[in-house]
This record gives sequence, C-alpha cells and structure tokens, in this order.
Amino acid sequence: AAEKSYEYIKVSTPRAGVGLIELHRPKALNALFTPLIHELNTALKTFDRDASIGAMVITGSHKAFAAGADIKEMSTKTFAEAYGDDFIESWSELPNTIKKPVIAAVNGHALGGGCELAMMCDIMYVSEKANLGQPEIKLGVIPGAGGSQRLTRAIGKSKAMELILTGRNFSGREAYEWGLAAKCFETAEECLEGALGTAETVAGFSRIAVKACKEVVNKSQELGIREGVEYERRVFHGLFGSEDQKIGMSAFAKKEKAQWTHR
Ligand code: CAA
Repeated sequence: AAEKSYEYIKVSTPRAGVGLIELHRPKALNALFTPLIHELNTALKTFDRDASIGAMVITGSHKAFAAGADIKEMSTKTFAEAYGDDFIESWSELPNTIKKPVIAAVNGHALGGGCELAMMCDIMYVSEKANLGQPEIKLGVIPGAGGSQRLTRAIGKSKAMELILTGRNFSGREAYEWGLAAKCFETAEECLEGALGTAETVAGFSRIAVKACKEVVNKSQELGIREGVEYERRVFHGLFGSEDQKIGMSAFAKKEKAQWTHR
C-alpha cells in the first residue's frame, strides 16, 4: 500500500499491523471531493486485503479532519445529476465493504461530510479542539452521507434533531460526553497516538476474531435484540471452525502467548 502514489491522501504503516490514512488536501481543509473519496476507497480496500494489516486509522490535519463535502464541486449539480450518479453513494465503501476496524482520529474541523466520515468509522477518538457539526441546513440542504441516521443513533433523537436543525457546531469534549466519541484527548498529537495505540492493540489479536467482533457489533445497529443475539451466537459458533480459536484457547491453557495465524 505504501508504494501507491496518491495526491490527496498519505498512506503509511507507522505501527505493526496498523495502516494510517491521512487526508491531505490542505488548501481546501480536506473538503471531500470525488477524487479524494476514490483515493480513500482504494487505500482502505488495499489495507483491508493486506494480511499484514489488522486495523486502520483515518486522520486529517490539526486544522481539519475534513471540512465537509466539497461545496464548490456540488454547488451547480442538478437533481438529475445527483440522482442519476447516486451522488455520495461512493462514500459507502467504508461502512459497507471494509471488514477490518477503522478508527477516526479527529482534530480540527469535522463538519458535514467530515463529521459523517468520522461517524462511519468503527471508533471515533477526538481532541478537545475538534469542531464537529452538521451545518448543511445553512447551505439549504440536509446531511447526505448518513449524518441524520448515525448521529441520531449515537446521541438520541432530541439532541441530534437540535444539532441538525440549527447547524450548531459541537466540540470534541461534547462528542465524548454524549458517547459519539470513545475518547477525548487534550492535544491532536495525543489523539493520533491514542488511535494508533488502539489500532496496534487490535491488530495484535486474531484477524478473524477481530472481523467477527466488528460484524456483530455493527449488526446491533440493524437487528432487534433477539435476532441480534442469535446472529452473534451463530458467528460465535462459526469461530470454532477457525485455527485461531484453537490457538487462543490452547495458549491460555498452557499459559503461553497466542501466536495467531494472522489470516
Ligand atoms: N468545500 C469546499 N471548499 C472548502 C470547504 C468545503 N466544504 N471548506 C473549506 N473550503 C475551502 C475554502 O473555500 C477556502 O478556500 P479558498 O482559500 O480557495 O477560499 C479554504 O478551504 C480555507 O477555508 P476558509 O478560508 O473558510 O477557512 P476558515 O479557517 O476561515 O474556516 C471553516 C474554516 C469554518 C471550516 C469554513 O471553511 C467552513 O465553514 N467550511 C464549510 C463547512 C461546511 O459547510 N461543510 C458542510 C459541507 S456540505 C456537506 O458536507 C454535505 C454532506 O452531508 C455530504
């Protein structure tokens, strides 16, 4: 993945098993235009297929995680173009097809599509200075990349409704207090370090068990409790067919460190 050349993102593997994607379109505060989304999708899929990678981190700059969909790119779009090209559907690769966990390290502005991108990730870490929000109402539109659905599920209807109707921004601290973010760090450096550290921890476990964890937790967002618990149990049963289950449980019995297959 590291050899691929990208224009709007930077890709690296700073820790064992961890793929880092830095959004890098500084002149436009990482506004998410189509070429950037295509590069992001390619990088995510490349890491997802790479057996040496166990988890990924997406971050931006200290100034901006991403300032939203590119307003200049979309300002003249017609309904026929938006509908005909299913505008923003290409952003769905991250939540719909990536099997390994993705952590967002959010510093600076994460507005509109930037906030939505962070919410598509499996875990969100923020710093105190993060500035999040769904300001689409101020542009005469609504969130278009899942904001109305994911924010509402994460923080509840009344608060999400208030934020989406007023376009009021909120801080990293608020995101953490409401449970939208899993951790809030004082500085941007600590936020990225924290995300990389968690990704490294996750990458140290059985790949197949990690993917199964992600799959079942995500199912909880779609299924009723009874079907969800049953789904979880079936996936749990399936893991008894994996080598890593045998490795993990026999290592415990022998008081050894498990040597995962990393397949
Ligand atoms: N699209 C395109 N360009 C953007 C952009 C965006 N979303 N956000 C910032 N930029 C550009 C600015 O136009 C500016 O470019 P120029 O230098 O060529 O003028 C450059 O980035 C720097 O921005 P500012 O000068 O505005 O920087 P600032 O520090 O004064 O303000 C900001 C920062 C508050 C984030 C401000 O840029 C801003 O409000 N941006 C728009 C935020 C927004 O409304 N996002 C939602 C977009 S709609 C959406 O995302 C739909 C969806 O649901 C998918």
